Amino acid sequence: MMTSSPVLDRPNLRGGVKQSPRDYDRLARFLPPLEWAIYAQDIAAINELKLQKNAIILAHNYQTPEIFHGVADIVGDSLALARAAVDTSADIIVMAGVEFMAETAKLLNPNKKVLIPDRRAGCSLAASITGADVRLLKSQYPGVPIVTYVNSSAEVKAESDICCTSANAKKIVESLGVPRVIMLPDEFLAQNVARETDVEIIAWHGHCEVHEKFSAAEIESYRADHPGIVILAHPECPPDVVQVCDFSGSTAAMIDFVTTKKPPRVLLLTECSMSDNVSFNQPDLEFIRPCNLCPHMKRIDLAGVRRALETLEHEVTIDPAISDRARAAIERMLVV
Ligand code: 13P
Ligand code: SF4
Repeated sequence: MMTSSPVLDRPNLRGGVKQSPRDYDRLARFLPPLEWAIYAQDIAAINELKLQKNAIILAHNYQTPEIFHGVADIVGDSLALARAAVDTSADIIVMAGVEFMAETAKLLNPNKKVLIPDRRAGCSLAASITGADVRLLKSQYPGVPIVTYVNSSAEVKAESDICCTSANAKKIVESLGVPRVIMLPDEFLAQNVARETDVEIIAWHGHCEVHEKFSAAEIESYRADHPGIVILAHPECPPDVVQVCDFSGSTAAMIDFVTTKKPPRVLLLTECSMSDNVSFNQPDLEFIRPCNLCPHMKRIDLAGVRRALETLEHEVTIDPAISDRARAAIERMLVV
């Protein structure tokens, strides 16, 4: 049986990319009826808890549709979520995303309670490097600035000069006005940026376990099987993949491309839930959907979000010995 959820929208949230008014009937039609019957109660409870506790939910574009369209107050790419975290007047921030995103929100809101519904929501890029690795690199390349992708731990950010996201990496690298930078920890992002700038980039060997799986041969076969297809790639994909695609950009840039250009047949080379979330608002476009799932993002579910709001667990804390330096690296990025 399909059930509509008797919940109201939360008005007047400040900052970030606000969710458009909810359409629960459409969400109910979009999801399998059995799933909606399960989700509707959690969605109603979560939206009520947010009002009671003056909490907001920030959700990354890779969250599943019932979170993304059902309970999130602000959605976006890593950059939008970081900016939204600066602007919110809520007392509690629930991060429906992975640990580094929750840490970024906490660093920018040291006096607010930041919750992550599941502590195991990590990231292969963040796990690829430690603060000690960065200190070693600095001793090998004295004076070369360190640009660190936000997909990194607070400890690594604390050793860095400035952060970047996939949306602003080239701009950040060039903003430093130097001939050479070290870019951590995503090797493919670094190589993709290096192709577009004269700044020499020294890369680390971290990879995103989701995007590294895409191959150029796969793209060729999609083009052969689906004439006229427009292919968009996240810059965490290998460079030979990005080079045979029609567009590359952050998750928000990909959404913007689809929303404004409306390619009739489109493939998003990124995490599975992106196509689900974008197609919700673009029912006339055909999405070809290879599915590479991020196991870390998928640790977050509605039940976990509800539990976080009920119990106020799991609270994100940052070691005071590193928080000021990590925050400074993020704040430098936000003013470029
Ligand atoms: P975006 O900043 O483009 O949303 O990317 C974050 C991420 O984790 C991609 O894998
Ligand atoms: Fe990390 Fe890749 Fe998952 Fe993004 S998709 S959170 S980069 S493992």
